[in-house]
Amino acid sequence: MSIVVKGGLVFLGSKFEKKDILIEDDRIVAIGTDLKAEKSLDASGMLVLPGLIDPHVHLREPGETYKEDFVTGSRAAIAGGFTTVIDMPNNKLPTITKARYDEKIELAKKAKCDILFHFGGTDDNFDEVKKTNPQSMKIYLGETTGRMFLLDPSSLEKHFALFPKDRPIVLHISDHSEDEEKNLAKTYDTLQKTLILAKKYDRRIHIAHVSTKKEMQIAAKYEKCTTEIAPHHLFLSTKDQKRLGPFAKVYPPLRSEQQRLMLWSVLEKVDCIATDHAPHPIEDKEAGAAGFAGLETSLALMLKGCNDDLLDKIWLVDRMSANVAHIFGLPKKGKIQKGNLADIILVDPKKEWTVVGSELETKCHWSPFDGMKLKGKVHTVIKSGKVVYEDYEFV
Ligand code: DOR
Ligand code: ZN
Repeated sequence: MSIVVKGGLVFLGSKFEKKDILIEDDRIVAIGTDLKAEKSLDASGMLVLPGLIDPHVHLREPGETYKEDFVTGSRAAIAGGFTTVIDMPNNKLPTITKARYDEKIELAKKAKCDILFHFGGTDDNFDEVKKTNPQSMKIYLGETTGRMFLLDPSSLEKHFALFPKDRPIVLHISDHSEDEEKNLAKTYDTLQKTLILAKKYDRRIHIAHVSTKKEMQIAAKYEKCTTEIAPHHLFLSTKDQKRLGPFAKVYPPLRSEQQRLMLWSVLEKVDCIATDHAPHPIEDKEAGAAGFAGLETSLALMLKGCNDDLLDKIWLVDRMSANVAHIFGLPKKGKIQKGNLADIILVDPKKEWTVVGSELETKCHWSPFDGMKLKGKVHTVIKSGKVVYEDYEFV
């Protein structure tokens, strides 16, 4: 069946323009005016964007499906405007062998969106990396949830040497010891050392969840280093700890209000916005688990930044779609253009809504932004040419 998305303000990479989009099967076949098809979707008043891509989610399957699974996690993704997400390897049984990687691909077939996987690097899985030949790797140099091993410096160097140079190795750099001054000093030191090593091998690296201005400034010194920032580090600080109690715990930790504002001042340098969607049910949070769900609130939060004149919408959409596709090597995604996969979202920029944790698609059913009033919501999602979400509901 052919579909035409009519009369919306379409994101065309460097500008928004009023256009129609014609879709046949799973592809975009034309962008123009007065296009016709069997089914017509009225997009007037809507922003028409490429399906968003999130390079950093924890969907917990297999192993901890009581926290999230590929169905609930991908429903949260679609409701938040993401048609592709890249899942982290810190599962209960981490994704560090080809068998576990292949198992995830199989399990994710039931998902509502595309799910790709970062492959975890350890001290002794060089052969598994080679056998699997993944698109990207994830290496933990700081404490995290789950059982990923912190690497020996010599293993880090060996992965840097062996993994194809033009594919990103994603790094969890930040240290989380209690004392802020100490953990920041350690984080900056680890980052400096990692950059030196990356330069030595002329390799691409990607720094996960940058949470301070200084980290961004250090990372920006190496042109093959890309970065991401999570919305919660832009919108929450230690000021919120009183209100949130154990629910404020996240790695990297929420920073001081001063650090938060300084992060906004370097936001322009960042390459991607990543949710770091890390769901834990209420009982687990009360018992000390770190992490927030983010898939369903991130776009609206970032649009708030646009509405408050803190950032530009064209810049933002690029950092949540085309640039992510570029960094992680996802052809035919991230851009509304002829021949590309028809992953398209319609966003009503005027729709006002309130975050209600218990009503979210994510299995954890709470959000650190519970009660917050936001403006801008995903109205319709077309995934590979099929309308999967319409009028704020799954079809
Ligand atoms: O807060 C976090 N939660 N930080 C991490 O590094 C891991 C994540 C999780 O998996 O829960
Ligand atoms: Zn994470």
